[in-house]
Amino acid sequence: MDTALNYNYRIVKQFAIATVVWGVIGMLAGVFIAAQLAWPALNFDIPWLTYGRLRPLHTNAVIFAFGICGLFATSYYVVQRTCQVRLFSDKLAAFTFWGWQLVLVSAAITLPMGLTRGKEYAELEWPITLLIAVVWVAYAVVFFGTIVKRKVAHIYVANWFFGGFILAVTLLHVVNGMSMPASLTKSYSAYSGVQDAMIQWWYGHNAVGFILTAGYLGMVYYFIPKQAERPVYSYRLSIVHFWALIFTYMWAGPHHLHYTALPDWTQSIGMVFSLILLAPSWGGMINGVMTLSGAWHKLRSDPILKFLIVSLSFYGMATFEGPMMSIKTVNSLSHYTDWGIAHVHAGALGWVGFITMGSLYYLLPRLSGKQAMWSTRLIDLHFWVATIGIVLYIASMWIAGVMQGLMWRAVNADGTLTYSFVEGVKATYPYYVIRFTGGTLYLTGMLLMAYNTYMTVRDAKPVAARIPAIHAAHA
Ligand code: HEM
Ligand code: HEM
Repeated sequence: MDTALNYNYRIVKQFAIATVVWGVIGMLAGVFIAAQLAWPALNFDIPWLTYGRLRPLHTNAVIFAFGICGLFATSYYVVQRTCQVRLFSDKLAAFTFWGWQLVLVSAAITLPMGLTRGKEYAELEWPITLLIAVVWVAYAVVFFGTIVKRKVAHIYVANWFFGGFILAVTLLHVVNGMSMPASLTKSYSAYSGVQDAMIQWWYGHNAVGFILTAGYLGMVYYFIPKQAERPVYSYRLSIVHFWALIFTYMWAGPHHLHYTALPDWTQSIGMVFSLILLAPSWGGMINGVMTLSGAWHKLRSDPILKFLIVSLSFYGMATFEGPMMSIKTVNSLSHYTDWGIAHVHAGALGWVGFITMGSLYYLLPRLSGKQAMWSTRLIDLHFWVATIGIVLYIASMWIAGVMQGLMWRAVNADGTLTYSFVEGVKATYPYYVIRFTGGTLYLTGMLLMAYNTYMTVRDAKPVAARIPAIHAAHA
């Protein structure tokens, strides 16, 4: 088989399967810490199992393992198909797979040991941080190298979003990762005080903007038109959407630091840019949803399309809620409460999770020489179980969050607090149990997907996906 005539599907399939496996692990960790919040005895007095160590394990596993493996898989697939060439280098692509798995396994070992830089979403100690930088540069070379050797003049918009995500993550990781090692397992940030906080949340918010958003919009612009068999609603809007989104996200970080030592004007800039961010976010959502014009009836029978379109509704919800929470007076109620956790998981479970799952259901049969997934009914069941799970998760956390905010600020006529902190914790208990139930349902859906994936790929036929000799505008 002359590989030069075929797309490299092997690497896409490796990352796709890794996404499913890490998805199960990361969500299992989420369900476990959700259970610990309801029943604290579940830490069993074992240091490795305590909440403080397993929480970053959950966030790292869902974002960097499930989330980024999904982005590797889809970006490698889309860039080849839309540029109509094989990846720039098979060897370098294989290096990104094994290098990234090494990063993830190192995270899974060091985080429960309590080794951490103490920066949220940038916890991993300096040797692992360096390894991430090396793998990421290799990823950039493979991706942009493929764009450079493309046979189609045009660069399809999905690649703009994937490319923006890869470049921005390089910048964010390098700047926020600057630290002074004290030993092999301990380092100190290169920044101090309020500058450190500012850099951390510039990183943190752009991790949302570029990892949890831009990359997935790349999926939106490829997989929704493909699955709906309709062209993108407005190509012009997609380009405006791209530039407006990447420009605006970069300035919104300070909304994570309202009412802190950060200068007040900086906080206000963060708030204003967050409010502006509603426009490009909704522009993108509307563009994705309107792509279904004339094909709405397909939603009735196609569960993959349900995943893709419902993900956009959650995207719209999270990107409406986010700007509202960035208004200082609203943030004074929502910050520190479970409202934030509701917002995060509307985005994480509904948007990031569903768009990834829908895209993988599209990809997996094509990577295995099959017409369709092993069971379409199982995809439908997955969709419904997961949707009910999300509703239970976010509705319970919304109620709990607003309740906590109101209880904490309630004062008596003489100026004393109406409620002690522990009364707030007690009142939250039933909502923690409901969140645990919702999370368990979402995890059950993921397990159904894992089973369906196994049945689809276990007797996979070799796929020789030939690169067309005559180049179409889009592949
Ligand atoms: C227009 C878009 C968005 C804006 C303006 C926005 C704004 C905000 C605000 C104000 C907070 C609370 C900060 C605090 O009080 O500490 C927050 C937290 C968060 N948001 Fe968003 N959000 C947006 C979209 C999203 C999306 C799509 C996701 C995807 C999952 C997401 C993920 C998160 C996460 C993970 C946090 C928690 C950060 C932390 O404290 O650890 N956001 N967001
Ligand atoms: C079965 C599904 C899941 C469950 C049960 C779950 C549960 C949890 C719990 C209990 C927390 C800690 C909340 C707290 O400290 O009060 C948490 C935090 C978090 N989870 Fe999940 N999670 C799930 C899936 C996901 C997924 C798929 C993602 C991302 C794609 C995600 C991203 C996050 C993030 C970013 C945080 C930190 C939020 C913050 O600091 O504000 N989770 N999750």
